[in-house]
Amino acid sequence: MNRRAELGSPIASSEITPRDVFEQRRTLIRAAAAGAFGAALSPLFARSAFAQTASPNAGSVKLASKANPQFMLDEKLTSYKDVTTYNNFYEFGTDKADPAKNAGSLITRPWTVAVEGLVKNPKVYDIDELLKLAPLEERIYRMRCVEGWSMVIPWIGVPLAELIKRVEPTGGAKYIQFITLADKKQMPGLSIPALDWPYVEGLRMDEAMNPLTLLTFGLYGEVLPKQNGAPVRLVVPWKYGFKSAKSIVRIRFTDTEPKTSWNVAAPQEYGFYSNVNPDVDHPRWSQSSEQRIGDGGGKLFPPKRKTLPFNGYAAQVASLYTGMDLKKFF
Ligand code: MTE
Repeated sequence: MNRRAELGSPIASSEITPRDVFEQRRTLIRAAAAGAFGAALSPLFARSAFAQTASPNAGSVKLASKANPQFMLDEKLTSYKDVTTYNNFYEFGTDKADPAKNAGSLITRPWTVAVEGLVKNPKVYDIDELLKLAPLEERIYRMRCVEGWSMVIPWIGVPLAELIKRVEPTGGAKYIQFITLADKKQMPGLSIPALDWPYVEGLRMDEAMNPLTLLTFGLYGEVLPKQNGAPVRLVVPWKYGFKSAKSIVRIRFTDTEPKTSWNVAAPQEYGFYSNVNPDVDHPRWSQSSEQRIGDGGGKLFPPKRKTLPFNGYAAQVASLYTGMDLKKFF
């Protein structure tokens, strides 16, 4: 049996149905989707002892920040409910609803992030130190998932560049790898080899230094809910959502292109760069359009919007890729 994970295609009706309808139809959809990887997994997930704890949002904690006018996108925000209940975080299950249900078991304090590799000042940072690296900023970013849906989210964070400057990369450092928590005791999804754990991601140094790249601690004025990658995640808005690694524990500076989870899982489908690109289709579906979660007043099939090159951030990042064949370096 193929037990590897797949990010779903955009036409799966379960992905775009309003949540209440989705919940009612879930069992049916799972049965109907026999053969799809997620459906094959669900009996295993049902058997495993998932911690059905209280909502991870219970008692959510406010996080003060100052809006950065340079990054306040003038687009309708995706609702808090959709942002925090329609998630990909495979360590807590492969269903969109699983992370909100299961991430209550994630322990986010104490938490440290080891910064290591080709840097002059390697250091293990406590989460509270990271929170004080620079004034926290609120920024509204458009996010585009490779599955064909998108959201607009008010994040809270600091430019990743602030951390990079402090650790002083050596001349040889060309890439950064982000390594996330993999703890079977806290993460029920790890008992299933959906991906090679831990979930890892990577950026080229200039991408990591770009002012858009955000080391993120919160959303909607609050500390990150666990299902969104507490206590610290990356947000890289011109790339498909899977580049934005959640619950980071290690940041490693390297001289060669680091391994990334989805590239290892399916190299012909997910490249290292994964820039949002309407002209380069996923081998199994088009990337030319997207459905914004919540568009169309919760209609069964939200209208499609055209996907923009670099997810609308071309002015800020296209120059990073001058001279590169983006069909080859997808
Ligand atoms: N990070 C970890 N550790 N594990 C994951 O499964 N999923 C990725 C990314 N970061 C993932 C992850 C994918 S596929 C997406 S689309 C985004 O997180 C979703 O982030 P959100 O749930 O906050 O919208």
